[in-house]
This record gives sequence, C-alpha cells and structure tokens, in this order.
Amino acid sequence: MKNKEMISNKYQFSGKIVDAYFDSEFQMLENLVKKENTVLITDKNIFDKHNEKFSAWKTVVLKPGEQFKNQKSVDEIINQLIALNADRQTFIVGVGGGVVTDIAGFAASIYMRGIKFGFVPTSILGMVDASIGGKNGIDVGVYKNLVGVIRHPEFLLYDYSFLETLPDSEWINGFAEIIKHSCIKDEKMFDVLEHKSFTDFQGSKEEIGKLIGSNVDIKYHVVANDEFETGERKLLNFGHTIGHAIENTSKLPHGSAISIGMVAAGIISEKINGFSHFETEKIKQLLSKYQLPVAFDFDREKTWDILLHDKKKAGNDMNFVVLDKIGKASIKKISLTDLHEIFFTQL
Ligand SMILES: NC(=O)c1ccc[n+]([C@@H]2O[C@H](COP(=O)([O-])OP(=O)(O)OC[C@H]3O[C@@H](n4cnc5c(N)ncnc54)[C@H](O)[C@@H]3O)[C@@H](O)[C@H]2O)c1
Ligand SMILES: [Zn+2]
Repeated sequence: MKNKEMISNKYQFSGKIVDAYFDSEFQMLENLVKKENTVLITDKNIFDKHNEKFSAWKTVVLKPGEQFKNQKSVDEIINQLIALNADRQTFIVGVGGGVVTDIAGFAASIYMRGIKFGFVPTSILGMVDASIGGKNGIDVGVYKNLVGVIRHPEFLLYDYSFLETLPDSEWINGFAEIIKHSCIKDEKMFDVLEHKSFTDFQGSKEEIGKLIGSNVDIKYHVVANDEFETGERKLLNFGHTIGHAIENTSKLPHGSAISIGMVAAGIISEKINGFSHFETEKIKQLLSKYQLPVAFDFDREKTWDILLHDKKKAGNDMNFVVLDKIGKASIKKISLTDLHEIFFTQL
C-alpha cells in the first residue's frame, strides 16, 4: 500500500500548485512527508475515533469546537512544536474539520515565519470548502476569522473512511455548502442532488467521492479566478449575508442558518432579479430533502441590526448575491429600503 502510486489533481493558484489526492488513504501520508519531521494536528474527537491512524505519528491533539479556534490553541501548538524540537524542516499536517485546518494552517504560517503544511480534511465541510482557498486563521472573541493569513497547503489528502464517524449533524452542515455550490455554479449537480439522497452518499464512497471532487473543482475555480476577492469569489457568499446574521442571533448551526439564508436570497432574487418562484420552491425542497431548515422564527429586529453592520453594505445599498437561475449567480445592489421591506414582510 505504501508504494501504491499516488496520482494527484493539480490546483494552480498564483505562485502555488496544490496537489489533491482524492480517494486516497491516510497511510499514504507516509509517501508525501517524512514521518520523523512531521507533526500532525487534530482534535480529540477525531483522535479518539481514528486512534489507529495516528499511531507512530507525533500528534498535537486540540480540544474540539469553534470555541477553541483561538490564540490559546495556537500558543499550545507552538509550545508543543518547541517541545518536539520542530524546526524549519518540520512539516505540519492538519487532520480534521475546518476548525483544525484553519488553526493548523495559521500556526504553520507563523511558526519560524512559516513552515510547510498539508491538510487531511475529515468533515464534509472541510473537504468541500474550508481546506480549499488558502484562508487560515482564528477567531478573536466574537469576531470570527479576524486574524489570519492567506497561504496554501502543499497538498490535500482525501480519505473518505474518516466520514464513517462523522455525526449526521455534520453531514447536514456540509451539505448546505454543497447545495450552495450547485445553486451558484452547477445546475447538473443540483439535479443529481435532487435525484439522490443522504443514504446514497453515506452508503457509497464512490458516490460521495464524485460529489466531493465536483465541489472541490467549483470552489477551486471560483477562488483561482479571484484570489483576492474582488469579484467572483463573492458568489460563495450566496445565502451567507442573511445566514450569518441569523447564525449570530439564533445560535443555529452554520449550515442551518445559511439554509434559511439561501431561501431568503432566493426570494430576494425573485424580487430584484427576475428569478422564478418555481425555482425558489425547488431550492426549498432540496434543502428539506437534506434535512436543512427552510424557515425559522428568528428575531427579525436583532437580525436586521446585524445585517446593517455587514461589510457588504455600501452606503444606502447592499451588494447581494442573487440567482439568475439555478446554477448561475450574480451580484446585484439592493437598496436598504427594499431589503427592509422584503426582510420584514416576505421572509
Ligand atoms: N478557510 C476557509 O476558507 C473556510 C471556509 C469555510 C469554513 N471555514 C471554517 O471551518 C470551520 C467549520 O468547519 P467544520 O464544520 O468542519 O467544523 P469542525 O472542525 O468543528 O468539525 C465539526 C465537528 O465534527 C467533528 N469531526 C470532524 N471530522 C470528524 C470525523 N471524521 N469523525 C468524527 N467527528 C469529526 C469535529 O471534532 C467537530 O466536533 C469554521 O471555523 C469556519 O470558519 C473555513
Ligand atoms: Zn458557509
């Protein structure tokens, strides 16, 4: 197995090629890095459930969860790196969901002014979203991702056997981003999702592998076309403007909040972009099929206040990601007066 040939898809960013090894196995990591000068970073959930995979690797185990995506965890990593005599030749591999890979990429980027790193994403969200695009960082108090760097990993290694232990709630969370990708970029994927179900994807590595591969391609192309976020990358915010505000006021999980945000963005697209009501209904049905909420009694006043502080606001207008049709998105300005009217009477 160790000598099985490793074939990667190459993703080219400005000044950097990232090798993605799909349908791989964790053990193949030994072909990519030298065990003696590699340090793995993971969290306790993953470490406990996949203990055998980590044996004989130097591993830093973090407490799991967004609340530990902070400087304290970075300090802990740095102290352990020092204790392990890590130097400029040391290689870091983040093995985990988006929290772990965001922190691992950040710690690797600042330790000794930057050492090399790679990712083994273990959650659906990590596989299709967080590990691609080079954004690494931490939260500071209530400010999510306030501190960080843009730096790409050397490689992404996909071992779908990690998904066998991923809780259903995290599958659902990750599928919100997959449905988002299909809405903004890929009508065919939307159709596939309509015709299949969770059981198909949870029951077959081939099915989930194909779906993950297509999603990585979408995120990669959007990011590579716009690495510095001046245009197309903004489309990835579909459902996230209102979604983030709901997440903030309701404590709903991210996927659930952006699910409602996507329905809201569909309705707004009907009002200001000629998007069809029939298609909004199709999106709602797809989200429900993957157990995501499409309505929620959130606190409108509080959520509106948060929306007003969104960075996409420009004077009395807001730049909003709307759909032209399923599979195609664009950015339209909406006046705060119109948004207020829709927000309080139509959602
Ligand atoms: N860098 C980016 O571009 C980017 C993009 C999107 C999201 N993110 C970040 O990603 C984070 C969310 O990622 P996430 O949803 O993966 O969260 P996460 O890393 O907290 O993982 C979710 C939960 O699942 C557990 N888990 C992960 N893989 C598992 C497995 N195989 N088996 C059992 N349990 C497992 C984790 O321990 C955790 O409890 C957020 O911090 C967000 O800001 C970053
Ligand atoms: Zn998201």
